[in-house]
Amino acid sequence: MAKILVTGGTGYIGSHTVVELQKAGFEVIIVDNLSNSNIDVLNGIEKITGIRPVFENIDCVDYVALDRMFEKHPGIDAIIHFAASKAVGESVEKPLMYYRNNLTSLINLQQLMPIHKVKNFVFSSSCTVYGQPDELPVTENAPIKPALSPYGNTKQICEEIIQDTAHSNSFYRSIILRYFNPIGAHPSAEIGELPNGVPNNLLPFVTQTAIGLRKELKVFGSDYNTPDGTCIRDYINVVDLAKAHVIAVKRLLEEKAEKAVEIFNLGTGRGLSVLEIIKTFEKVNGVAVPHQFVGRREGDIEQVWADPTYANNVLGWKAEETVEDTLKSAWAWETKLAQQRAEKKSSEE
Ligand code: NAD
Ligand code: WQD
Repeated sequence: MAKILVTGGTGYIGSHTVVELQKAGFEVIIVDNLSNSNIDVLNGIEKITGIRPVFENIDCVDYVALDRMFEKHPGIDAIIHFAASKAVGESVEKPLMYYRNNLTSLINLQQLMPIHKVKNFVFSSSCTVYGQPDELPVTENAPIKPALSPYGNTKQICEEIIQDTAHSNSFYRSIILRYFNPIGAHPSAEIGELPNGVPNNLLPFVTQTAIGLRKELKVFGSDYNTPDGTCIRDYINVVDLAKAHVIAVKRLLEEKAEKAVEIFNLGTGRGLSVLEIIKTFEKVNGVAVPHQFVGRREGDIEQVWADPTYANNVLGWKAEETVEDTLKSAWAWETKLAQQRAEKKSSEE
């Protein structure tokens, strides 16, 4: 049974990927410092798969602790590196924290790989590297645009570090996955997104508004050059996204990769507007999302969606879930969180 290290494995995308890895028969070791996740996620994973993953509370910025972890768990076959700080606005306010966390974590892992004979690496990148593409849908060959935030810049620099490291040493094999907008939760509602404080992303704000935690959703901009005036994104189901990681790891382990570094877009190929998301959410869940139009959010891209043909053909991966089912899963998860809050409150009374 191949052994996979998942950094950031208690986070949103990481936890869904751990589930899919376990279902595919992989042994998983999670490294996470719980800076943006909760240890209870391990219970959720165990409820779904029946297997509790090994968990190490380690900060990937700590080289010595990571080195010890590799010694404690010999024979790791591949790393999926999710661990990173990801809030765009926070990165503008605390750029050094972002550069330190996201770059040092990656550099530490890349340095430790040859020492511990780990050859295979999967990296979480983002469609943010394309900025506003000149042509839509966007392919992997589209030019990288100047980053609009320190967070986005860390993804660009990390991609370059991976390329440079691979070219300096034929030992490494890497797959860079550029995610579009991951949404939804596991259909069991045992795991999902746990935003810290006021959500920045659209879907958690939609679900928290629908449940009554937020008064209303602000729709940022209604005068974009799009059919209904609101921005367009490629919203990808998180379980579909997780499955792509299992395929990527298998491709590396089976030595099928054609280049030292392969890059894939992970999206559906379909763009949806903010209003379409709100209307579909309301319809499939039978719940209102109070919202009002406000001005544009600084730094927002007008419209972007993926051309996923390369991932479809080469990885043999395709987004399968409908947006309706995905929005239902997001609501089921928010409802479950509300239930847990209510139970906690009544047990405290
Ligand atoms: P998340 O915050 O839910 O998960 C990241 C996890 O990494 C958290 O559990 C956090 O505690 C952990 N972590 C952060 N810094 C760490 C460190 N130094 N050491 C150990 N653990 C650390 O985020 P997510 O949405 O699951 O994103 C996962 C990855 O995908 C990130 O690299 C993110 O940049 C990237 N990504 C996310 C999106 C998105 O919209 N969610 C889109 C594109 C790319
Ligand atoms: C989606 C749409 C908003 C909140 C960000 C990062 C990007 C990537 C994914 C990691 C936009 C609108 C949102 C709200 C709104 N992350 N919106 N009201 O902007 O595509 O990308 O997350 O790599 O790097 O920049 O995602 O979910 O924030 O916004 O109207 O309260 O929803 O304007 O059009 P975005 P998002």
